[in-house]
This record gives sequence, structure tokens and C-alpha cells, in this order.
Amino acid sequence: MTPAPRRIAVLISGEGTNLQALIDASRDGKLGTQIAVVISNRAAARGLERARKAGIPAICVASTRGQDREAYDSLLATEIAAHGAELVVLAGFMRILGARFVATFAGRVLNIHPSLLPAYPGLETHRRVLDAGERWHGATVHFVTTELDAGPAVIQYRLAIRRGDTTESLAERVHVGEHIILPRAAAWLAAARLSLQDGCVMLDGRALSQPVVVDEETEPR
Ligand code: GRF
Repeated sequence: MTPAPRRIAVLISGEGTNLQALIDASRDGKLGTQIAVVISNRAAARGLERARKAGIPAICVASTRGQDREAYDSLLATEIAAHGAELVVLAGFMRILGARFVATFAGRVLNIHPSLLPAYPGLETHRRVLDAGERWHGATVHFVTTELDAGPAVIQYRLAIRRGDTTESLAERVHVGEHIILPRAAAWLAAARLSLQDGCVMLDGRALSQPVVVDEETEPR
């Protein structure tokens, strides 16, 4: 008998458009599992509203400056377990997770980042990419490790930078791609098609030598 798909906790800090893409995928049967809980570190995160509207438990585990990282992470882990989630998707969660949490959830946490990692980890990626005169930009879903935005990449959305692109236009185009690749990767993980073995990304029983690439040009909108 195939085991039941593992349920997901989605961690957010803000607007939650990626969360919305996951909610929509779940509603349309494309996620193959349920979002068990949405957790924000900010009470004002609009994503909490989106979750409640969809009938998903939505809670705030407020973080404060200078708070002990492990203490905070263990509050998170408690809520995740209490809601029966085994997988974690970081969808704009603007907090670094500590080593203990990362080890406990090894191979079970995905993050979405707005750049073609390993290029441009960190913040303000759209501006930095434009300043550097890059030709390509995009987004990456990767497994979370202790190093910020550096875990093994699973899938990327790639777009060609156009003459006249601004940080705003790039943010919009990258978001479109994020909403495609994040639910796809989460569905693979929930169905156990995707895993992390000895630091290597496995998809459908094969090791990925590079992330799956989805191109803006060829992806139907
Ligand atoms: C996304 O661009 C994601 O890549 C980054 O934070 C942003 C979250 O956007 N980590 P939203 O809250 O999902 O709209």
C-alpha cells in the first residue's frame, strides 16, 4: 500500500502570493496533499488571511529581535507537529532557521528564492541582477540547509531580462514563475517523488545533476 502523502506546513512572513499558489494547487488536486497549517512570524502577514479564507489553520508565532533562535525554532516545530505536518515549505519566510531545526527536518524543508541560485543569494535580488547587467534571472526552489539560500536546487524558473526591465517588472515576472515551480516541487515532495539523499537531489529515483528548468518562453500561462 502506498503511504498517505505527507502534509505540509507553510511558513510565511508577508503577502503570501506563493502560499496562494499552493492553496490553489491543493484545491485543484495538484498538490496531492493538504496544507495542515500556515505559520507566520508576523501577525500582520496578509498570507494569514489567505489561509483563513481557505479554511486552513493559520497562526502567528511572533518573532522578536534578539530572541534565542533555537527557542523560536522549537516553538515552530511544536506547532508543525501539533498540526500533523511532516513537510515544511518556506514561502517568503524572512527568518533564518537554526541548525537543530534544519537537522531535524533534513530533506523535508523547501524554500523559494527569487534568483537563479547559486547566483544572488540574500536580499534585493532584482536590483542586484539589473545593476550587474545580467541576461538571465528567475527563481529557485531548493532544499534548506544551514547555509542561507545555498541548499541543493530542485527546480528553477528562468527568464531573459528585457531591455527596459525594472525591479518592479522583474518582481512581477519572477512571481509568475515562483507560482509555477513552488507547487510543483511541493507536490513532488509530498508524493515522495523528490528526496534528498546524501546531499543529492533525487527525483523519480534518479539523481539530478542540475535543477529541472522551466523557461518563461515555453511555459503556458
Ligand atoms: C518571494 O519572492 C520569494 O521568492 C521570497 O519572498 C517572496 C515572497 O512573496 N522568498 P509572497 O509573500 O509569496 O508574495
